[in-house]
Amino acid sequence: MDFDEIIDRHGTHSMKWDRMEALYGVPAADGLAMWVADMDFRPPACVTEAVRRMADHGIYGYFGDDTAYLEAIRWWLAERHGWQVAPEWILTTHGLVNGTGMCVDTWTAPGDGVVLFTPVYHAFAKVIRAAGREVVECEMPIEDGRYVLDIAAWDAQMTGRERMVILCSPHNPGGRVWSREELRAVADFAARHDLILVSDEIHQDLVFPGAPRHVPMPVAAPEALDRMVVMNATTKTFNIAGAHLGNVIVPDERLRADLAQRMLGLGISPNSFGLHMATAAYSPEGAAWVDALMAYVDGNRKVFDATVAEIPGLASMPLEATYLAWVDFSGTGMSREDFTARVEQGARIAANHGPTFGTGGESWLRFNLAMPRARVEEAAARLADAFSDLQ
Ligand SMILES: Cc1ncc(COP(=O)(O)O)c(C=O)c1O
Repeated sequence: MDFDEIIDRHGTHSMKWDRMEALYGVPAADGLAMWVADMDFRPPACVTEAVRRMADHGIYGYFGDDTAYLEAIRWWLAERHGWQVAPEWILTTHGLVNGTGMCVDTWTAPGDGVVLFTPVYHAFAKVIRAAGREVVECEMPIEDGRYVLDIAAWDAQMTGRERMVILCSPHNPGGRVWSREELRAVADFAARHDLILVSDEIHQDLVFPGAPRHVPMPVAAPEALDRMVVMNATTKTFNIAGAHLGNVIVPDERLRADLAQRMLGLGISPNSFGLHMATAAYSPEGAAWVDALMAYVDGNRKVFDATVAEIPGLASMPLEATYLAWVDFSGTGMSREDFTARVEQGARIAANHGPTFGTGGESWLRFNLAMPRARVEEAAARLADAFSDLQ
């Protein structure tokens, strides 16, 4: 677990590093890739070993018998999150963007509304719109520097055309771990408006030491199981996003049959490399690795936030979870083009643009902190330099 090791990812078909220059104009040679949410760390050794065993065996045929894989997921959710799942509730999709698409496709029709609490993970809106459904944006207010829910305002916004709500829990990009009360309020909102409730919990394991515990939606609101889908994955937690798999967990038998039928119709079946990696990851060794990871990223966050706090006009939202810093530039009084140019051309950092996260994201950038400490220090120093005239 040497999180300090700098591993060169250039020329490895890495989206984050090898597409940076084309997408952000940040030079590949000395730019810092702080955008898409994967990490510059190797996964735990148990995962690498699982891939090596498979590669060494040398035959890559169809996968059969997912008993160990499902048991690993069951164990992880019980052990780490206090949620008891039955193995048959678990469906495996090609990642959770695919999972989101499958949910939208299964339970909504073209023209229906899908509710998002914005700003939120950008792929939700992309998938909803590409499927010809309407994104219904409910903007989250900020109180005491962090996002809160404004259910009363959102109740008034509903028109009756909405069919689904997607919650990001913990929240990307705000880094909130929602409380039990907040989760129950979302479940009540879904019930009042007769919405399918999709809870994307891909960041469930990435909670900082000392922050409140993540509560799975079904633990907070068991009375809403008949309208609930929970999505989680090994991919974000263990940095194996290229394995492209995710758990779509549907406790309700009728809903599960709907989704299974849709997946059957599209011929969706899992990739064996992903299943081997996930089975190895959801283990005591994987758990110890995640604990060490979050302690390390906590250090990165402190370094980054301390510098940001000294730049007049910049404010980093205090994170409870995720490795994604969410920074507001509105206090600089600069236009979006100006502050973005200072970050991209001045500091040579690629960070996600706030408006892609929907209403409320206009003056923000999202920085990925899952990299060796030396790189985070370099990024912080470059930012301070790029905005030094404001000091
Ligand atoms: C909330 C959320 N859901 C889904 C994903 C991506 O899921 P996948 O890579 O499994 O498609 C991300 C990636 O950052 C995310 O933040």
